[in-house]
Amino acid sequence: MPLVAGVDTSTQSCKIVVRDAETGALVRSGSAKHPDGTEVDPQHWWDAFQEAAAAAGGLADVAALSVGGQQHGMVTLDADGRVIRDALLWNDTRSAPSAEALIAELGDGNRAAGAQAWADAVGSVLVASLTITKLRWLRDNEPENAARVAAVALPHDWLSWRIAGYGPAGDPTAPLGPQLDKLFTDRSDASGTGYYDASTGLYRPDLLERALGRVDVVLPRVVDVAEAGAVAHPTVAGSAVDHSTGSGSGCLIGPGAGDNAGASLGLGMTPGDIAISIGTSGVVSAVAPKRTADGSGAINGFADATGNALMLAVTLNAARVLDAAREVLDVDFDGLAELALQAPPGSDGLVLVPYLEGERTPNRPDATGTLHGIRLATSTRPHLARAYIEGMLCGLADGLDALRAQGVSVERVMLIGGAAQSPAVQRIAPQVFGLPIGIPEPGEYVADGAARQAAWVLAVADDPDAGAPAWSTTIATTLDADPKPVIREQYGAVRDLS
Ligand code: XUL
Repeated sequence: MPLVAGVDTSTQSCKIVVRDAETGALVRSGSAKHPDGTEVDPQHWWDAFQEAAAAAGGLADVAALSVGGQQHGMVTLDADGRVIRDALLWNDTRSAPSAEALIAELGDGNRAAGAQAWADAVGSVLVASLTITKLRWLRDNEPENAARVAAVALPHDWLSWRIAGYGPAGDPTAPLGPQLDKLFTDRSDASGTGYYDASTGLYRPDLLERALGRVDVVLPRVVDVAEAGAVAHPTVAGSAVDHSTGSGSGCLIGPGAGDNAGASLGLGMTPGDIAISIGTSGVVSAVAPKRTADGSGAINGFADATGNALMLAVTLNAARVLDAAREVLDVDFDGLAELALQAPPGSDGLVLVPYLEGERTPNRPDATGTLHGIRLATSTRPHLARAYIEGMLCGLADGLDALRAQGVSVERVMLIGGAAQSPAVQRIAPQVFGLPIGIPEPGEYVADGAARQAAWVLAVADDPDAGAPAWSTTIATTLDADPKPVIREQYGAVRDLS
C-alpha cells in the first residue's frame, strides 16, 4: 500500500501523520514544538519539521506529502533565498495601522468604501493578520529590509520549498539552492494574503504594489487543487519510493493548504457544514460554493482546498482564554471544567468580554478584556470559571451569526480543537449556540487534511479524473441543544462597552 504524509506547520508545533493512501488508516505520527512569539525565524519550522519527521519514523517510504500551515505569516526572502527578517505571524497585530491606511487609501479616504473595495477585490477587509498589511508595515518601518525582498512566501509555501531541496545559497540542507521561481502555493493560503483573488485565480500585483511600493518580487506559483507542486528531495522524503505513476520515483509534494482549509478537507466538509475550532485562534468556518464579499469585515472569504470557498470568522481569543482562566484560578484543564459546571448558565450575570489579546472579529486590535457584573455573590471561583468559558464561546457565536448573515446555510455543526474536549465546553457550547453539536474523534485535522490531499495528488498522478479519497470522519458524540439565551443576551448588552 502506498503511504502518504500530512504535515501541519502550525503556530505552536509541527505535526506529521503518515497514513495509508487508500484507507486513510494512521500508520505513524510525530511532532515537535515551535518557539512562542508572534515573530519567528522560519529556520525553527524547518528544524521542527525534521524533528517531527524523525519522530514519525522518517519519510523515506512516503509516496506523496502535503503541508498545511498557519495562514498569513510573512516570509520574506532575498535574492539568495535567505530569510530577510523573522516572519511576522497571523497573530502579530503591529500592522493594524497599516491595514487601516490601506483601507482608507483604496476608498479614497472613505473607510466604508475602502473596506468594501478590499472585500470585493480579495474577499476580505484587511486586518493585521493578512500578509499584505505586514508588507506595508515593512515598507514603512524597515525600508532597508523592504528593498531587499526578492520573494514573499507563506509558512507552508516556504516549508514545501525547503522539502523540495531549495533554500538559502550555501546551505548544505538546501542542495538545489535559492531557486525562487520554484516556490509554489495553493488557492486557500494564497486567498489569505490580501493580494490574490480566489474568485479569478489571479494575483493582484496592483494591490501588492500599493503595500510594498514595488512589484518586482516573486510570488509562489498557485498550483491546482490536486496538482503536485514539486518532488521532495530524496534526502528529505521518498528515497525508498518507486511508484508506478507517470511521475516516476520519489515523493510528490501536493499544493498544501492554509490550516483552516486543511482542517476542512480533513473533516470532509461540504456546503452546509460548519466547523467551530477552539485552538490558538477561534475559527468558525463554512464551505460555500462561492465566496461573498463582506464589507463589514466579520467574514473572510477565503478559498478551501477543493475548489469551493471557505468563509471564516476568526477570533484571536480562544483556547488561550481558557489558559488564562486556569492561570487565574490555579487549576488544570479538568479542574477548570469542574469549577465552571458548578455555576449556573449565565454565571448569575458575571460576563467576561474576552478580548485579552485585542480582537480581530470584531476588529478591535487595541481592546482589552472586561469583566462585568462582579458582585459579592459572583465573586466565586465557579462563577469566574464559567464566565471565561461563556465569554469565549459567545465570541465564536457572534462569528456564526456573521456567517448566517452572509447567507451561509447551517446544517451540521462540528466542534474541534483541543478545548473541544473539555466537559465544560461540551456542556456549555450547545447552550450558547442553541444547536446540536457534533464532536468528531479527537484528531490532527489539519495534518489529516494534508495527508488526504497528498493521497488525492497520488491518485491524480495515475488517473487525472480521480477525486479526493473517501476517508471518513467519525463523529464521536453529538451534544444536544439546550439553549440558554440569557448567556448571549447579557454578553450582547456589554460587548461593545469593552
Ligand atoms: C485565519 C487565521 C488563523 C491562523 C491560525 O485567518 O489567521 O486561523 O491560520 O493558524
